[in-house]
Amino acid sequence: MKKITAFSVFLFLIMSSYTWLQAQPPTWENGIAKIFYSNCTSCHHSGGIAPFSLDTYTDAYSYSGIVAIAITNKMPPWNADPNYKHYAHERVLSATDVSKIQLWVANGAPSGDLRFAPPAPTYSNASMLGTADLSVKMSDYTVSSNTDEYRNFVIPSGLTVSKFATAIEVLPGNPSIVHHVLVFQDSTTAAISSSSSGGTGSAASKLIYEYVPGAQPYFTPVGTGLRLAANTRIILQVHYAPGSLGQLDSTRVNFKLATSGLRNISVSPLLNHLSTLISGPLSILANQTKTYNEAFSFPGNWTFLTASPHMHYIGRTFLTYAVKNTAPFDTIRFVNINDWDFHWQDNYVFQNTVKVPNGYTLRAQAFYDNTTGNPDNPYSPPQNISAGEATTDEMMMVFFSFLPYQTGDENLIIDKRIIPKGATTFCEGITVTLKTIEGAGYTYQWYRNGTPISGAISASYEAGITGNYSVSITLGPNNTVSDPVSVTVNPAPVATLSPSGSVVIPSGGSITLNASIGSGYTYNWYRNDTLIIGANSSSYNATIAGSYYVEVYNGCYALSSNTILTDGATTSGLNNIAISEFKIYPNPSSGKVTVDAPFEGELIVLNYLGQKIQSNIITKETNDIFIDGSGLYFLVFNDNIGNSITSKMIIHK
Ligand code: HEC
Repeated sequence: MKKITAFSVFLFLIMSSYTWLQAQPPTWENGIAKIFYSNCTSCHHSGGIAPFSLDTYTDAYSYSGIVAIAITNKMPPWNADPNYKHYAHERVLSATDVSKIQLWVANGAPSGDLRFAPPAPTYSNASMLGTADLSVKMSDYTVSSNTDEYRNFVIPSGLTVSKFATAIEVLPGNPSIVHHVLVFQDSTTAAISSSSSGGTGSAASKLIYEYVPGAQPYFTPVGTGLRLAANTRIILQVHYAPGSLGQLDSTRVNFKLATSGLRNISVSPLLNHLSTLISGPLSILANQTKTYNEAFSFPGNWTFLTASPHMHYIGRTFLTYAVKNTAPFDTIRFVNINDWDFHWQDNYVFQNTVKVPNGYTLRAQAFYDNTTGNPDNPYSPPQNISAGEATTDEMMMVFFSFLPYQTGDENLIIDKRIIPKGATTFCEGITVTLKTIEGAGYTYQWYRNGTPISGAISASYEAGITGNYSVSITLGPNNTVSDPVSVTVNPAPVATLSPSGSVVIPSGGSITLNASIGSGYTYNWYRNDTLIIGANSSSYNATIAGSYYVEVYNGCYALSSNTILTDGATTSGLNNIAISEFKIYPNPSSGKVTVDAPFEGELIVLNYLGQKIQSNIITKETNDIFIDGSGLYFLVFNDNIGNSITSKMIIHK
């Protein structure tokens, strides 16, 4: 039972959630919902790219079996090996969260008290950039194929003078079909091929950004930008997922722009199979596996910001790093991919800038499997594969974004945003994790309404109080303050019960229980933790002994403490019947439920919102009832003399 007070919120905030969760087995309410909302629902929501949503308990319960498996190997989708290097905004479930979900599934995926579970975040196609300075949209396109389709769309930027992009975001017109988007600029008038899976058909096109579903917008570090030429064209290469035939899309790209004074970030495939391949050309014969290496060095010191490996379907592993081959030997890590998935090509943003000093060589090593053992092989039986732009050809590239090194680049703050890992409007007693850049050497101070929050000095903060939150981030001599994120915590209603404590019911009489009154309050009364059907006013006239409480709702829930009524004028009925005499089975069930009832009476089926969806008159014998639709239900049995008993029932089709 939750009694929410300012003190308990305070206690919650100071206790680490780790100890708290250790103490209780995980439920949807007490931790699992939070994990799903921060790691899964950006794609698994209705209208998202994932094939099913995971944003309600019922959905997560239904898929819990395959979730437990998917989180060990493929979900969330993220190609890079987290044991090799970490990145900004990486989609990696922590080992602790993996074990919490597994324990939860092993325990039967319990809900906990859904009244106190955090609400699902809402997803919209709204910009996360704030105000865009340039917003361009491709014209409407109806997908013409039912297999993977790649299409280039040319959009004039309308820029009359050159500008720097300091942030880029892709807003897919139809998020359920847009699998990834490459954003290029091209300031020539060269022809652009309408369908391609590699370049745009123009050698002058420059890649500036890669989008995959669930990705955050890209912000350049303070003082830097990506130069967009005057009159440049923006080219979107959109990959539509299989099964999209006939669907409409119109994807938009937003930019934040600055006019001048910024350092220009270059984006280039410094490692590529056309000019840096050792022992080329790329050619993997049918039924062969083959490893290729690439090397490239250029004079000077460089500051690297991102790396983005690229191959097609028969690529299996990819490793890229920089190396110094003279003593003292040294390796600088970029990206390691142990299990390449063509569908999840990310632009890996380093948490800290990576300095590549003069004398280092950039290297890549890729392994290709052109046998039937590769489930992604585009040909069956395997065919000879060589370099080319079609997805059935192969490539070996790493796009890097980089700057000429300047003293102090080690301390560039890569990203200063606060990303809320869940809904930012919720009821008292819940919190949301606010997260900012993590990495080596960063220090933090969080603020609420401009006032420093004592002890809030890590990369994330659990916000449980209404306010505008910001974070000041320091790296070496550099310091920057994030834009604020506003959190709204709705107060729970007051739930008190009078009389309180323990009260004797006069023989043959009754006691009136009165709940606190407030505007917009609705009520449900409970006896011995069982909902009393039809008892919905602010008072309840009790004639039977038991432990009573009232649930008050105003958009948020609160439960009163219990009043114990004794020596009531008991009548025969359920009150005297052991719960074990009332049986429903099997539970969970696939729809057909058998009910053994001790008396004739009415059996009401409520959905988990408490809405009545059917009622049946049942007898003492065994009764079969049928419930449509997966989910959590309450079966309420009322005997003919005013007593009731409630059981939870899970339907899983
Ligand atoms: C970036 C988007 C994205 C995120 C984040 C994501 N998924 Fe998925 N998920 C997908 C897509 C798309 C599929 C369909 C299969 C595919 O493309 O790999 C999928 C498939 C699945 C499947 C079915 C796997 C199978 O074997 O068929 C499960 C289960 C799943 N996801 C669970 C999760 C869970 C749990 C999380 C969070 C811990 C999560 N996903 C995070 C996009 C995502």
